[in-house]
Amino acid sequence: MSNIIDGKALSLSLKEQMKERIVELEAQYGRKPCLAVIIVGDNPSSRSYVRGKIKAAEFVGMDSRLIELPEDISEQDLLAKIAEINAESAVDGLLVQLPLPGHINEDRVIDAIDIAKDVDGFHPQNVAKLWLGRPCILPCTPKGIVAMIDSTGVNISGKKAVVVGRSNIVGKPVAKLLLDRNATVTIAHSRTADLPAVCREADVLVAAVGRPEMITADMVKPGAIVIDVGINRIPCIKEDGSEGSRLVGDVQFPGVSEVAGWITPVPGGVGPMTITMLMQNTIECFLARMA
Ligand code: GUN
Repeated sequence: MSNIIDGKALSLSLKEQMKERIVELEAQYGRKPCLAVIIVGDNPSSRSYVRGKIKAAEFVGMDSRLIELPEDISEQDLLAKIAEINAESAVDGLLVQLPLPGHINEDRVIDAIDIAKDVDGFHPQNVAKLWLGRPCILPCTPKGIVAMIDSTGVNISGKKAVVVGRSNIVGKPVAKLLLDRNATVTIAHSRTADLPAVCREADVLVAAVGRPEMITADMVKPGAIVIDVGINRIPCIKEDGSEGSRLVGDVQFPGVSEVAGWITPVPGGVGPMTITMLMQNTIECFLARMA
């Protein structure tokens, strides 16, 4: 059985530290960091993620604003809202929950966020800085993944890392952060030939594809660090015989946990760390704006 990387516990301890830090910041600067979150429409998953973000902000004692906008809002009105929040000096971080309704161009929305308040690290100027190795706001999920790998105490320098998935939010940026830790990084995806063989080479395997339980035990090198970014809801039959659903990752946990050296659970792994890194980024933006 592998060691479990407990994202929930790690998150909690980081948030406890932030709580104290925010008390100090308020005493020093006369106000707390403030995070604004925009959600458009009522996608249930997005609503649940956003609730988690606001709850975490409350937990660490920072200010937060939740801006709920209707599904049919025009792109122009959304951009106007972003401009309004960009201009508010008391707001340090702004994120727009993705995905957005089809009639809105996500690129234009991301481009509109003040780079100094871009707590997601999605703005092209932040992405460029990331790849150039300049100081920048790191995207939350990749930042949380690297923090979890660091928490194992395993030095991944010179090791092989395989990232399955090439999204702008996770796959591509986490590959860069692993490269910064001197791993030899492969980005695999749906067209990769013989994916199981590629995965079996990995000392660090990051699964970020959004396909329930696609990484099976035969795809994992014994002793590997396995990071499961997937959050998939699949149907199941509950104990009382009724139909329900349960959360699974992109990794088939029961089998893979017999082979891996370290593994993140779902839920309680990457998810809580992503939110905690968002809190950290908001504090970083606050400090940069106060400087
Ligand atoms: N949708 C899924 N993940 C994220 C994220 O990290 N940030 C935002 N803004 N939207 C998301």
